[in-house]
Amino acid sequence: MHLTDFDAEAFLRDTWQQRPLLIRNPWNDWRNPITADELAGLACEEDVESRLISYAHDTWKVAQGPVPASHFGKPGKSPWTLLVQAVDHHVPEVAALLDAFRFIPNWRIDDVMVSYATDQGGVGAHFDQYDVFLIQGSGKRRWQLGKTCDGQTELLPHDDLRLIADFQPTEEWILESGDILYVPPRVAHNGIAMGDDCMTYSIGFRAPARSELIAHWCDHLLAELDDDDRYADPGLRAQANPGEIGAPAIEHLHAMIAAKMQDRDAFAKWFGQFSSTPKYPDIDWQPQDPIETSELRACLDQGYALLRSPASRFSFIRQREDCVLLFVDGESHACAGEASAFAEHLCATTRIVVEPGLQQSNAVLALIEVLYNQGSLYFEAED
Ligand code: SIN
Ligand code: CO
Repeated sequence: MHLTDFDAEAFLRDTWQQRPLLIRNPWNDWRNPITADELAGLACEEDVESRLISYAHDTWKVAQGPVPASHFGKPGKSPWTLLVQAVDHHVPEVAALLDAFRFIPNWRIDDVMVSYATDQGGVGAHFDQYDVFLIQGSGKRRWQLGKTCDGQTELLPHDDLRLIADFQPTEEWILESGDILYVPPRVAHNGIAMGDDCMTYSIGFRAPARSELIAHWCDHLLAELDDDDRYADPGLRAQANPGEIGAPAIEHLHAMIAAKMQDRDAFAKWFGQFSSTPKYPDIDWQPQDPIETSELRACLDQGYALLRSPASRFSFIRQREDCVLLFVDGESHACAGEASAFAEHLCATTRIVVEPGLQQSNAVLALIEVLYNQGSLYFEAED
């Protein structure tokens, strides 16, 4: 499925991070990629993050998954919503939704959360720190939008939910199957299911907090620093007052920190690894047995397509014209020449047929072998 009636460049220029936008069914042929039963099945699994949210007698309740299968058999008394995180990591058909949003860099994409709600179900008026495309999968949902919020916005007292105390809708739309609502960060929104069988796909993004970046980058630096790497002051001059921390000392001390913090190349490599680290390391797409080079050659020779694992994150940084650093699942791979072109191609598409010319390249083959054996790539025929 792809977007037909959608101008990505105009969207980025006029809308992205600026204002909400309702996009009426822009898909060539919208089909709901998973059923409510399949979603319920995922929510029962131990390694899938899910929540059940219900509202009754003026009280919001949250139950963390896994959800007991018996929940889904009972006729519901009060409206409820099931939220399942990172469904794209488990279900390639849901991951395929992301293909429509690849005009945004891979590293900015977080995951696809899927919700199922019974009539009148919702998660309450709230705001998120991230951009989101809300795709109506099946059924109908009324979406209300409000003001842009911040740290001062008053919230209802609740241990698990951050609901807005005084939500005042300023706009309202009813979304039907295939419709998309884009909501920029911090814009208040409230979705209420109209009838049962309301499924919504949230294409979520990531925007690292400065505090998170500094903390993780410093952790990485600290792990690499040597205890012998110390302040030294050969040529120290006697000073009038021993109590003074002199300007040259401050200069030197500050430079010790700044030099490390400002190492742009080291930062770029670290960020590529950091941002491609799997969100759920327990999700395992690894093959049962590692593939041998000869077997790999044979599969490629027969024209089998390679698919990116839906749980894997791929991105690259260009170092020179024919040289890139490829990042996959927290690891970096220096790629030059043909391997560099192949790495770029891998980052641009989720399905790749390796041309016969490239199959002769040992560097390309070695890269595929590593990525295959760590579960980041698999052959389509094995699906
Ligand atoms: C939902 O799908 O019910 C909630 C999604 C959201 O508000 O971010
Ligand atoms: Co939200």
